[in-house]
Formats: sequence, C-alpha cells, structure tokens
Amino acid sequence: MSGSNRPRKYDKPEIPTARQLAAEALVRIDEDDAYANLVTPKLLAQSKLDPRDRRFVTELVYGTTRMRRAVDHLLAPHVLKPPPAIATAALRLGAYQLHYMKIDDYAVLSETVNVVPKGLRGFVNGVLRSVTRSRVVWPDRATRLSYPDWIDRWADETFGDDAERVLSAMNTPAVVARRDDGYVQDPASQLISGLLDTQEGHRVADLCAAPGGKTSALGGDVVAVELNEARIGLLVGNLDRLDSKARVVRADAVHPPLRPASFDGVLLDAPCTGLGVLRRRPDARWRVQRRDMDRLGALQTEMLASAAALVVPGGRLVYSVCTLTDPETVDVVATLGEEFVPVGLPEPWEPQSHGARLVPDIGHDGMFAAVFTRSG
Ligand SMILES: C[S@@+](CC[C@H](N)C(=O)[O-])C[C@H]1O[C@@H](n2cnc3c(N)ncnc32)[C@H](O)[C@@H]1O
Repeated sequence: MSGSNRPRKYDKPEIPTARQLAAEALVRIDEDDAYANLVTPKLLAQSKLDPRDRRFVTELVYGTTRMRRAVDHLLAPHVLKPPPAIATAALRLGAYQLHYMKIDDYAVLSETVNVVPKGLRGFVNGVLRSVTRSRVVWPDRATRLSYPDWIDRWADETFGDDAERVLSAMNTPAVVARRDDGYVQDPASQLISGLLDTQEGHRVADLCAAPGGKTSALGGDVVAVELNEARIGLLVGNLDRLDSKARVVRADAVHPPLRPASFDGVLLDAPCTGLGVLRRRPDARWRVQRRDMDRLGALQTEMLASAAALVVPGGRLVYSVCTLTDPETVDVVATLGEEFVPVGLPEPWEPQSHGARLVPDIGHDGMFAAVFTRSG
C-alpha cells in the first residue's frame, strides 16, 4: 500500500472513538449541566460505534461521573491549575480507567491522550503517568466512595452499620431486570403495583404515572395522571406498547380533576429526591441537595392528601417513593387521617413506622412504600 493513503498526521479523525465520545459527554455534563442518562444515548445515536463500543462509552461516562469526587482526588496532587474542559474530561476518564477498570495502563494512556488536541497531550499523558505511580490515600469514606459529604452523613443516619455497604451498592451499575411483558423495571419497583391489590372492575387512579411502569402493571379501570408534557408522550407510548387500556389525563396531582371518594385503589408514586436509585442516575448525587428533601416532602404531603380524598371507603391507598429520607417517607404518611389504616407488608419489606422500606442493594433499588385501607 502506498504511503499516500495513510491519514496525514494533522487529519482530524472523522469518526469519534469511544473515548472521544465519552469525553464529549463529560464536557456537556460538566459545562452545560446535561443529564448523563440523556446526553449519552443522544451522542451514541449520532455515532457509528458498534454495540461493544457503545457499552464501553456508557460505562466510561456513567462510571466517571459517579466516581467524580474520587477520581478528582486521584488527580489533584498532579494538576496545579484547572485545565481546559476537554483536558479535565480526559484526565477524569483516564484516572477512572486506571483505577476502576481492568485496562492495561499503557492502553489507557495511549488511547486517552488522543481525546485532547495535540497541544494538551503531553500534559494529559504526564498527569496520568503520575497517577499510575502514586499510592492512593483516601482522606475519608465520602471521597473514597465518591459521594457529597451530606449524602455520606445521611447514609450513616439512615443505615447505621450498613451505610458503607449501601453506598458501595449504589456505585454498582444496575443489571437490567425485565418483567414478563418485556418492560424493563427494577425488582423493587416491580413490587409496588401489586400492593394496590386491584381486581377486575375496580376503579383505579395512578396520580404520578409517567413513564408508566407501574400503571401498566395495575389491574382494573385505570386513570393515569401526569403533569409533565414530555413525559406524557413516554407514558402513552409505553401503555400502547404494553396493551394497557389506562386512560391518560394531563393534570396536577395536587388538584386532580377526579371525583372524590370514587376510587377503589389510588397509587401515588411521587416525585422524590431519588436517593434510593443513585446507581441508575450517575449525576444525581451531585445534583440533589439536602434541602430538596423538605421541599419535596411538602409537595408529597399535599399530593397524598389529594390522593387520600379520592379513595372510596373500603378502598386502598398506596404511597411509594424511590428514596428513604424521613421527610419524604414516614413524615409524609404520618399526616394521613385516622380513617387510613396501615396494612403490613410482607418480606422483603422492612417495616418502618406506618410503611416499609427496601434498603438499596446490588440486586435492587431502595424504595419506601406504605399501604392503607380507608375505614370510613
Ligand atoms: C417517580 S415518577 C413516576 C414513575 C411511574 N409511576 C412509573 O412507575 O413509571 C414521578 C412522576 O410524577 C410526575 N409529576 C411531578 N409533579 C407532578 C404533579 N404535580 N402532578 C402530576 N405528576 C407529577 C413526574 O413528571 C414523574 O413522571
């Protein structure tokens, strides 16, 4: 082959490599506040990478984002002033691969430097080389497991001796769990719809329905309420695909346009801080703030009062959230009137005040649920 066909040294690669794509995703997450679980599939959809490389990109972006604090600690001694965004992305990707992935150091260095323009390659190479030579000393658990300090403290308050195990489990990517009908849903979420115990002919309301995972597993005549316009599209698509007859209504769950005391079953799967599902949302730990618990707790309490008003005497009310903070769980359900009588939940649920929880584990997300029957 003649030398003239070889790419010239200064040619830009036309097809981005997996690492270049991952670096671009990291820059967008960092600079534009993009969501990892939205920007990654979007960039992948525009790429020509094969399925193996796509999985690699996702692992790089999610892993590096999740472990950002730990990775920055590994890099800090070797970086004197903040480099340009693309170099920061490359350094984080490199340090993540070196420390957390079973990839040969030489391959990591030689491939990762190609992510940055020529003028920055020496710098990135030098820093990553220093990382390979340094001994790691973690100042504390929050840095080692890569959580903000407040989540680390919250884990101690909430899980006691299990805090380390729980925090580690939420650093382990979730495995895909599929229901019999093909819908992908975490095993913990799969337990919720059944708690409503709906029967043929029951009138059922699901007040926070999108994307429809729980709605589609409910029996009876279901009204699915959702406020977010964009998510209604997802909800309708999923319900169609899963052959659900649920009627979709766009409305605010705080003021649902539904007749009071007319539903045999009401599900409120409320918006929450999502601290039980951090393994699915790699950037969530950096977005959620401690004050969100109280803000969302107040909203959930209003929603629960509206949900409760819809339940017919003798009917059932289920409240669920994928978080385990007190202001969003036990404090919310404690506001229900005495006519709502708690129903105990079987194992694997751990009883907690008027409800029950599932502590996050490598096999499932964290979840709180409370079930009530209305006595009068
Ligand atoms: C935890 S998600 C529900 C997940 C859903 N139940 C499932 O299993 O697929 C909470 C949903 O509540 C919606 N939401 C937030 N505020 C709302 C409100 N005021 N009224 C109705 N829906 C709301 C969000 O857009 C989001 O889709």
